[in-house]
Amino acid sequence: MKIALVGYGQMGHMLRSVAEKRNHKVVLTVDTFAEDADFKPSSPAETAEKIAKSGAEGIIEFSHPSSVIDNIAALLPLKLPLVVGTTGWNDKREEVKKLAEKNSSYIFHSANYSIGVNLFYKIIEQASSLISKYDEYDCALWEAHHTKKLDSPSGTALELAQIVLNNMKSKKTIVTESFHERPKKEELHVSSTRLGNVPGTHTVYFDSSADTIELKHIVRNREGLALGAVRALEWLRAKIDESSLAPGMFSMENILN
Ligand SMILES: NC(=O)c1ccc[n+]([C@@H]2O[C@H](COP(=O)([O-])OP(=O)(O)OC[C@H]3O[C@@H](n4cnc5c(N)ncnc54)[C@H](O)[C@@H]3O)[C@@H](O)[C@H]2O)c1
Repeated sequence: MKIALVGYGQMGHMLRSVAEKRNHKVVLTVDTFAEDADFKPSSPAETAEKIAKSGAEGIIEFSHPSSVIDNIAALLPLKLPLVVGTTGWNDKREEVKKLAEKNSSYIFHSANYSIGVNLFYKIIEQASSLISKYDEYDCALWEAHHTKKLDSPSGTALELAQIVLNNMKSKKTIVTESFHERPKKEELHVSSTRLGNVPGTHTVYFDSSADTIELKHIVRNREGLALGAVRALEWLRAKIDESSLAPGMFSMENILN
C-alpha cells in the first residue's frame, strides 16, 4: 500500500520502518517542524492537498493533541482510510464519528495500538470474569514505568482496573493512593512505581489464601505500537476494498474480534 504519514516524530519514524518491513511504500511524510519530513505544511488544508496529489492509498496520523482534530477534519474528505494514533481527544469521539459518516469516510483510532496490550485486556476480562465466581480471590494491579513518564497510574493500568471492575463482582472502586487502614474487600488497589528505565510493566494479581495467579504484560519497545497501527490501516484498506464495511469509526475491538 502507498502510505502518507502525518506527524514525523518518534512514532512517525517507527511507522515508516515497520510499514516498509511489511512491503508498504511511504510516499509522503508531513510534519510542521521535522527537518527530515518531505513536506512542512502551514495548515491542515495544505496537508490534505499534498496527500491528495501523492497517490497515497492510506494515511496514518501521529502528531499532537492540539492539531489532531483539525487534521482529521481536513483529511476525512479525501475518503482514504485514516488511522489516528494521536491521543487526548476522547471527548470529541462522537463528533469525529459523525464527521466520518457525513463524509462517507473511514477512521480508526486506538489510544494504544499494541496488539499485546489489547490481547492482555481481553485476557484480563476473561480471567476476572472467571475468577469472580470464587469468592476467596482478591485482586490488585501494579504498574511500573521509567521516570520519564508524566502520568501515574498509567492510562493502561486504569483501563485494566476498569475491566476488572466490570467483571469481578466483589470489586466496586479503584484506590490509587496508599492505604492507611486495612483495604475494604470491594476496593481494587492500583499501585505505581517509577524507576530508572523500566519499560511499561503491568501486573494483575488474583490472590487467595492458597495461591496467587499473576498475569503480566511487559513492553519491550515502541515497535509494537507502530505495528498495531500499520495492521489497523491494512485491515481498514482491505475492508474498504471488499466493500464489507459501512463508513464510520473503528477501533482495536473490531480487529481482535
Ligand atoms: N495510540 C498509540 O498507541 C500511541 C502510541 C505512541 C504515541 N501516541 C501518541 O501519538 C502522538 C505522537 O507521538 P510521538 O511520540 O510520535 O510524538 P513526537 O513529539 O515525537 O512527534 C509528533 C510530531 O508531530 C508533529 N506535528 C505536530 N503538529 C502537526 C501537524 N499539525 N501536522 C503534522 N505534524 C505535526 C511534530 O512536529 C512532531 O514531529 C502523541 O499524541 C502520543 O501520545 C499514541
